[in-house]
Amino acid sequence: MSDQARHRAPDDDAEPVVRLGGEVAEPVVRAGGDAAEPMVRAENVHKAFGHVKVLRGIDVTVPRGNVCVVLGPSGSGKSTFLRCINHLEKIDAGRIWVDGKLVGYQQKGDKLYELHDKAVAAQRREIGMVFQRFNLFPHMCALENVMEAPTMVKGQSKAESRRRGIELLDRVGLADKAGNYPSQLSGGQQQRVAIARALAMDPKLMLFDEPTSALDPELVGDVLDAMKDLARSGMTMVVVTHEIGFAREVGDQLIFMDDGVVIESGAPREVLANPQHPRTRDFLSKVL
Ligand SMILES: Nc1ncnc2c1ncn2[C@@H]1O[C@H](COP(=O)(O)OP(=O)(O)OP(=O)(O)O)[C@@H](O)[C@H]1O
Ligand SMILES: [Mg+2]
Repeated sequence: MSDQARHRAPDDDAEPVVRLGGEVAEPVVRAGGDAAEPMVRAENVHKAFGHVKVLRGIDVTVPRGNVCVVLGPSGSGKSTFLRCINHLEKIDAGRIWVDGKLVGYQQKGDKLYELHDKAVAAQRREIGMVFQRFNLFPHMCALENVMEAPTMVKGQSKAESRRRGIELLDRVGLADKAGNYPSQLSGGQQQRVAIARALAMDPKLMLFDEPTSALDPELVGDVLDAMKDLARSGMTMVVVTHEIGFAREVGDQLIFMDDGVVIESGAPREVLANPQHPRTRDFLSKVL
């Protein structure tokens, strides 16, 4: 497929709604680590599984320290988009940069070459991801779960991993549960261990995919509090969630996806109070 064909606009009749709050200055792309540059920049991202076009031209910019909340109906491509950000999925067209670096590819001239596994893994280490299912190691206690990656992957000393692990468990309100195994923790506590585990790698970006949707309602608050605390600390976050209160309180930007396209974006309070697109209105009327 020619590059031009791959970059065509989504074949959708409706114009996406973009408010002032959701607009960001055109980012300057440099080698990386520049404070003026957004943490995430996705440009015209396309992804298909077989004949099913799941992402049809996603453009999203997340400035450093911002929280971008992603809403949308089931099957709209939210998880797929998150997975593309850390190259768990390859993209068919478009570009994604994290911290100014092209994710998963290297550009030579006007051609893209996929990075080797080692280079992809190195990029992925800088991005923390928290899923709906926490996937803790069942044979390790909370602290060991948090210590594992920094010790094994980063080669950090056990003493340092332990010190930092205790600090992170304390941060998510679980200092007293460090020795508990996952089976001895509630779902909400396990999810907070999963957050601490992701933070132990000192990520520059955190991706959350419906981190509270598998939890009993009474356990959701503690996980959201840990995420709010993280947001206040300045972490850049992309959060797929149906927690509208969270979106309103800590979101800097809300994007609404439908059928592989961002159909509406802007400041969460504005989009939530006054959705412009009929499909956003319809969705919000069901979840609000
Ligand atoms: N590995 C895969 N192979 C084939 N199809 C897939 C794959 N992953 C996702 N899909 C399809 O892509 C579409 C979007 O899926 P995705 O999981 O991104 O949606 P979502 O917005 O996260 O939905 P939900 O709210 O239910 O989590 C769906 O139609 C899904 O069936
Ligand atoms: Mg999903």
